[in-house]
Amino acid sequence: MANHILVKNKIKSFNKKIRVSSDKSISIRCILLASQAVGVSRISNLLESEDVINALKTIKKLGINYKKNKSVYNIYGFGLNGFNIKKNTIINAGNSGTLARLILGLLVKSKSKIKLVGDKSLSKRDFSRVIKPLRLFGANINCEKKNLPIEISGSDFLRPITYNEKIGSAQVKSCIMFGALNTPGTTIINAKSSRNHTELMLKFLKYPIKINKNKKYDRIQIDGQKQFKGFEYDVPGDISSASFFIVLTLLSKDSKINIENVNVNRSRIGVISILNKMGANIKLKRKRIYNGEEIADIQVKSIKNLRSINCPSKFNSSAIDEFLIIFLVAAKSKGISRFKELEEMNKKESKRLDLAVKFLKTIGIKVERFGNDINIHGNPNLKLSRKFEVKNFLKDHRIFFLSCIAALTLGGIWKINDKQSANTSFPKFLKTCKFLGAKIN
Ligand code: S3P
Repeated sequence: MANHILVKNKIKSFNKKIRVSSDKSISIRCILLASQAVGVSRISNLLESEDVINALKTIKKLGINYKKNKSVYNIYGFGLNGFNIKKNTIINAGNSGTLARLILGLLVKSKSKIKLVGDKSLSKRDFSRVIKPLRLFGANINCEKKNLPIEISGSDFLRPITYNEKIGSAQVKSCIMFGALNTPGTTIINAKSSRNHTELMLKFLKYPIKINKNKKYDRIQIDGQKQFKGFEYDVPGDISSASFFIVLTLLSKDSKINIENVNVNRSRIGVISILNKMGANIKLKRKRIYNGEEIADIQVKSIKNLRSINCPSKFNSSAIDEFLIIFLVAAKSKGISRFKELEEMNKKESKRLDLAVKFLKTIGIKVERFGNDINIHGNPNLKLSRKFEVKNFLKDHRIFFLSCIAALTLGGIWKINDKQSANTSFPKFLKTCKFLGAKIN
């Protein structure tokens, strides 16, 4: 089957209710925490995407069984450090930075040496950000030049750490929290704010964790080596996946959408705050709390008069995966939009900031770049008619989704390569576009 798609027409008006794929961050955390729980955990609506399947395969390699029963995944944990690791075990995190970084945290006490590998994209990413705190715990790590492959072997002489997490990375913060679970004593993390699913999940599990919010950082205190029981979790929809359909609706003519049951945790909804500041009227309906997480239905209508934004960098962490699609809105808005301090974008599955600039220029938008800051000169009359081909994006799923939404809202004739990258986070993405009326070959 061809691994590219062709889009020759804009999407027509639509008014529909949809669900998007389940949250990837929460799915991976559910699997990893279930692997450390005592007894069976039952996870429903687990995201069945490549990153998450790799998390399941990883715990299986480490001796934890799981079984899918109807639509529920049952995971059978043996408690903290309950892995049963064979000699020369190699685990493959595929494309997933979250899986790779978080699993290392759970291996600080492992009895044997484990090799962690990943795909081409993951093998280019910087692991020094987790290696440093893991070594402070006392774990032994071999690795060349900060990149995968990494070999880790745990230690029986772990010590709790106090760590200042200054990047604002939930992956680093969670890796340390997972390291703390197997370490005696109290670990303290002073963390620049980032998504807080791990903290909320540990609280929901009644794990001894304390969080004090300061203006500049969260102070997280975790006591190690306390067992917790298997749990039940119903994973909500992913705001990162929803954001592509929010923008599809905003930029389409006379359209409306209701995206049901999405996680709208405050540490994740920078995209909604930013787009509303640009003139959108995105509403959260039926707000409720589930296991500490905020869930809602998201209502969006198309909008004609979008305005530029001078985007405060305080939104950077809560919109980190959504800037690509936010830039498309900036391209269609009146005025110059400014975004600052986006260095973390270039440390994702691909160098997203570089690719975004290239993409915007290709569709005829003026972009100025000053290091990690960019100015996007919007054009509300932007309409495309020529041919475009999108390739060479290191199979980054979010660049694929961005290209599809651009093709469906701006016109032109598009060949977009590597449709399989959608399987990383949102296997039903194209199906959902078609359900809304998109013509995609
Ligand atoms: C994630 C955290 C973010 C995000 C990634 C998922 C997580 O990365 O970009 O897609 O699940 O913890 P950083 O925490 O490194 O910014």
